Amino acid sequence: MEEKIMFDNPNIGILGLGHVGLPTALGLADIGWNVIGADDLKSKAQDIANGDAPFYEPGLSEMLIKNINSGRFSVASSVEEAIDASDVIFVCVGTPQNDDGSADLSQIENAGRTIAQNSNTNKLVVEKSTTPVSTSLRIKDTLRRYAKENVEFEVAVNPEFLREGTGLYDFFNPDRIVLGVESEAAKNTLLQIYLPLLDQTNPSDISDKEIYEAKSNDKFVITDVNTAELIKHASNSFLATKISFINLVADICEKSGSDVSKVAKGMGLDPRIGSSFLQAGLGFGGYCLPKDIKAFTKIGEDLGVDMSFFREVDNVNIRRVDQIIDKLKGKLWVLRDKTIAVWGIAFKPGTDDIRESPAMALIEKLIEEEVKLNLHDPKAMEEFKRTSLSEYSNIEYFTDPIDSSNNVDAIIIATDWPEFKSVDYKNIKDAMQYPFVLDARNLLNPVEMLDMGFDYIGVGRYS
Ligand code: UGA
Repeated sequence: MEEKIMFDNPNIGILGLGHVGLPTALGLADIGWNVIGADDLKSKAQDIANGDAPFYEPGLSEMLIKNINSGRFSVASSVEEAIDASDVIFVCVGTPQNDDGSADLSQIENAGRTIAQNSNTNKLVVEKSTTPVSTSLRIKDTLRRYAKENVEFEVAVNPEFLREGTGLYDFFNPDRIVLGVESEAAKNTLLQIYLPLLDQTNPSDISDKEIYEAKSNDKFVITDVNTAELIKHASNSFLATKISFINLVADICEKSGSDVSKVAKGMGLDPRIGSSFLQAGLGFGGYCLPKDIKAFTKIGEDLGVDMSFFREVDNVNIRRVDQIIDKLKGKLWVLRDKTIAVWGIAFKPGTDDIRESPAMALIEKLIEEEVKLNLHDPKAMEEFKRTSLSEYSNIEYFTDPIDSSNNVDAIIIATDWPEFKSVDYKNIKDAMQYPFVLDARNLLNPVEMLDMGFDYIGVGRYS
C-alpha cells in the first residue's frame, strides 16, 4: 500500500526570489499552483509585487504580470507571512562563496531556523539552492531544534538545473526532475507538484493514481537527499570540466595550427561525448559554475578525497583571461593609452548578470594596463555602472557597437551575444585606428573577417 501524499493540493512558498527562486515561483504558479514568494530584500520584494522583474531574463516580465493578474502568484510582505501561508516551502536563497572556496550556508541555516520558528503547522521543506552534500541533513537538524511543539517537518532536495537566459524555457522543458526524499509522503507530494508540468493536468484534477504512476516517468530521478545534492554539484562540475577541457585543446590547436571548432565538432558528434559545452573561449563564468566547482572541490577535500583534478579545471579557467591579454599585447605591444572596445560584459548572452563574468575579469586587467575603454553590452551596461570598476576615469559607454569602434586599436568580443554576428563589419573597419578584432568567444567567421581585411584572432583557430 502506497503511503498517502503529505499535502493534497499544497500551497507553495518560495523563499528567495533570485535567478532560481523567481522563475521557479512563476513556473509553478503558471502550471496551476498557488504560490507565495518572499525575499529578505524588501525593496526587491516590493518591486516584484508591483510587477517589476528585478533582473533581465527573456519572458520573465510577461510571466510575472500574467501570474500576478491570475492571482496565483503573490509576494508576501514578510518571510514569516510566506511561511505561514505555505505547506511546501522551496528554499531558494543564495549560497555564496567563502574565502576558502566552501559554500557559505548562513542564508540556508537562517531560512531553516526562520521556518521552524514561524511554523504552526507541518511543512515539507524543499532545498532548491545548490548546496554541498549533507546540507539538507543539517537543515533537518535545525528545523527540529527550533520547531514549535507538535509541528513536524520533512526535508527534501530538488536541485534546479535552469540556466540563466533560458530560465523559463528550462523550467517548462526539464531534462530531468531530481527528487531527493526521505519518505514516500514527501516523494508523492513533490510528484504531485511537478505532474502538471509533464502532462498539462490541472492541479485540481490530479488523482492519486496519476501521482503513483508518475514515478515511472523517466524524467523523474528519485533518490535519497545526499545523492540529489551530489547530482547537482557533479553536473555543474562536469559542465565546467568540459569547458576547461576544450579550452586546453584550443591551446594545443593554436600551437599546432589546427582548428578547435572543428575538433569540437568532430568530438561532439559522438553521442557519448555530445556537442554542447565544447565552445572554446574566455572560459566559464556566472554565479554557478565557478562557485560550484570550488565548493565541490572543498567538500570533497573535507571528506578526504583528492580533488586536484577539479582544482585544475578551475585553474585552467582562471588562466583564460591572461591568455587573451597576452594575445592583445602580442599584437599591440604596449597597451597603455591604446583605445580598446570591449563588446560584452555579461557572463553569457541573454542575461544582464555580470557576476563572475570573464568579461569583467578582462576589463579589470585592461584597466590595470591603463587602456582607454569603449564598452558595449546589449543588456549589462547598467549592472556594470554599479560596480567599482566603473570608477575608472577612462571609460566611455556605447549603446551601439558600431559607434564604440571609432578610432579604436582593437575590438575584443568578450561575450558571445548573437547580435554581434550581424554587425556591419565592413562599415567599421575604416573607422578603426587599426582593424584588429580579438574574438575571445570564437563568435565570428574567421575567413570572412580576414577577407574583409581585418587582422583577426580567435581562440584555438588562427594565431
Ligand atoms: C549553469 C548550468 O548550466 C545550469 O544547468 C545550472 O542550473 C546553473 O548553472 C545553476 O547552477 O544555477 P548558468 O550559470 O546559467 O547555468 O550558465 P551556463 O549556461 O552553464 O554557462 C556558464 C558559463 O560557461 C558562461 O560563462 C558561458 O559563456 C560558458 N560556456 C558555456 C563556455 O565558455 N563554453 C561553452 O561551451 C558553454
